[in-house]
Amino acid sequence: MASYGLSAAILGACVLAIHLIGAEETLYVAAVYEHRVILNPRPGVPLRRRAALEHMEKNLHAFAEQGAHILVFPEDAIHGFNYTRASVASYLETVPDPEEVTWSPCADPGRFSNTEVLRRLSCMARKNRLFLVANMPDRQPCSRASDPLCPPDGQYQFNTDVVFSDNGTLVARYHKQNLYFEAAFDTPPRNKYVTFTTPFAGRFGVLMTQLHGTNCGPRFHTLLWCAVCKSNPCISETAYHSPHDLNAEA
Ligand SMILES: *[C@@H]1O[C@H](CO)[C@@H](O)[C@H](O)[C@H]1NC(C)=O
Ligand SMILES: *[C@@H]1O[C@H](CO)[C@@H](O)[C@H](O)[C@H]1NC(C)=O
Repeated sequence: MASYGLSAAILGACVLAIHLIGAEETLYVAAVYEHRVILNPRPGVPLRRRAALEHMEKNLHAFAEQGAHILVFPEDAIHGFNYTRASVASYLETVPDPEEVTWSPCADPGRFSNTEVLRRLSCMARKNRLFLVANMPDRQPCSRASDPLCPPDGQYQFNTDVVFSDNGTLVARYHKQNLYFEAAFDTPPRNKYVTFTTPFAGRFGVLMTQLHGTNCGPRFHTLLWCAVCKSNPCISETAYHSPHDLNAEA
């Protein structure tokens, strides 16, 4: 399906920012936030919100900007992985739909409660004047009365990518469709294509998937950062692949 040289060792889930064909050819600097992810050693055990925030902060504090236009955090790079539906609870924030509200968490932190990580990321984007793509768990309340697919506990839990513009505004929210043994999360009832526009390179699409499951229409160029599994368990030995410009056919 795609003409790239990565082996089957690719971790089942990648965060992709797709530079859509049709955008003008431009040069820009893209960076990946590389660090050794500090994992929750007991991901099956529920913990308090404060402890979850302290854990995530350990994965956020080391950031130092190096002149990039856009920065991408790999999947699970802030909260870790291998949670259950219950134990991920304290990591969840409700990410508002940027198609419905215009919000900079950094400029207006009090507008929605329990959004500390969103605020942290928004301020990171604003302070460093860059677009920022990050992965986090999102809670979306639902009602079984109006939505038969709503889970019994009255909320969807989505594995989610958020994108901030270089002034800290939340500009995109993407819920992962192709889950990969992720007990903590629900598959979104509708598959939605999500894009955002940058002044330096036009439109990008957001996608998280296992590569063989990629289904994003016809040909596309992809800026791809992928966690490559060198051993099991994956994350502890993760090396992040350099950005690739793929020319792929789905
Ligand atoms: C912030 O960024 C967004 C998205 O790029 C843009 O639409 C908006 O005009 C910007 N706001 C300010 C105050 O610059
Ligand atoms: C994830 O959790 C399962 C069951 O709790 C465990 O068997 C497995 O080793 C864990 N995987 C990693 C990579 O830690």
